[in-house]
This record gives sequence, structure tokens and C-alpha cells, in this order.
Amino acid sequence: HDHSVFSATLLDWFDAHKRPLPWRTDYQPYHVWISEIMLQQTQMERGVDYFLRWTDRLPDIAAVAAASEDEVLKLWEGLGYYSRVRNLHKAARIIMERHGGVFPDDIASIRALPGIGDYTAGAIASIAFGQDVVCVDANVERVIARVCDMDSPVKQKENMAFIRATAESLLPSGKAREFNQAMMELGALVCSKKARCESCPVSRWCEALHLGIVQERPVPAPR
Ligand code: ADE
Repeated sequence: HDHSVFSATLLDWFDAHKRPLPWRTDYQPYHVWISEIMLQQTQMERGVDYFLRWTDRLPDIAAVAAASEDEVLKLWEGLGYYSRVRNLHKAARIIMERHGGVFPDDIASIRALPGIGDYTAGAIASIAFGQDVVCVDANVERVIARVCDMDSPVKQKENMAFIRATAESLLPSGKAREFNQAMMELGALVCSKKARCESCPVSRWCEALHLGIVQERPVPAPR
């Protein structure tokens, strides 16, 4: 029961506080995909600028597939990690050839595309297609490490499994699009490195806050 109250409280907060991002209007799979790839290793503001320029020049998957490597590289210039755009380009051509130009909606086919790992596959399946799967990024890891007062690094194998299971247990069925984005948005805007607990909608459930050790969570990876 507490789980459903947590989720409902988080979803209300997201509804009121979510940033108006260009891919949050119609949740087209193509838009969700481009945004998720761009936002890896890229700040949100910068990501939005590049996203708008990219989709202006390449409005759909067919346009990406038809574009030259030079053109997609130029649109990516400045973002770095150029394997991301090479994989995007390859994936667009695969979608044209194997999926009739329609972004596939089953998670195995999504995951099989170049440049798409577990996180991105979960993000697309849930945010674009509304499927009940979680996606766990660093924001989600931080939120759960604090709420659950995890006392060892989040990247440890058992902890990764615990975080995924916790996210799954909190996920309200039929609402993965909103829930996953809400967890990430909470991590980005409130439960950030420097936590703003006074503004947190779910602070009443936060074990680390009750113990006064939010700044000690997540426990840093050993180096
Ligand atoms: N960071 C990466 N993807 C995101 C999303 N869908 N919402 C909020 N922050 C994100």
C-alpha cells in the first residue's frame, strides 16, 4: 500500500513540476530515442538545443537513414562520444530495412538495435510505447539509494538487482511512461547530488533523510 502512495505522490509532483521538453509533447518513438541517446553524457539544456536542430533537419527515421554519415556527424558535432551518432545512423538504416521504417515496439527488437542498451531499451519501451518496464539511470539509482538508505555502492551486482526490483515494485501498472520520467526528473531536479530535501514530494519515505545522512548516499564507488 505504501508503495502505491509513494508512486501516486511522485506522479502528482511530476505532473506539476516536469520540464516542458520537446519530446514530451507527443512521445513519438523517434523523438524519445533521439533524446535518450543525446542525453547520455550531455546536459539537458544542451541536449534540447541539439535535439531541436537535429529533428528540424531530420524529421523522421527515413531522413536519418537517407542522410550521409557526414551530415549526421555535423549535426552531432560538439556533443562528443561520436559512436553514439554512428550507431544511431546504423540503427535508422536497420529500422528502414528490417522494420519497414517503423520503430519496433517489442523490447527484444529495440534492445537489438546498435547503441541501445538496457537503459535505453527500457526508456523507449516505457516512455514511447507505455510498456510496464522500468529504466534505471544514475538519477534512479541515487533516489533509491537514499530512500532505501543503501549502505554500499549502487554498481555492486546485488545492489543493481535490488534497485531494479525496488523500481519494479514501485511502478504503478499502466503508468510506466510517467513513473520512469518522474523518478529521473526527481533525481535531476530535487534528489540531485546536492539534495533539496525541503522540496521533495517523497521525503516522508526517505530513510537516509530520517537518519540525517542523505549526503552520504549513494555510497561512492571504490577507487
Ligand atoms: N534524463 C534522461 N532521460 C530523461 C527523461 N526521460 N526524463 C528526465 N531526465 C532524463
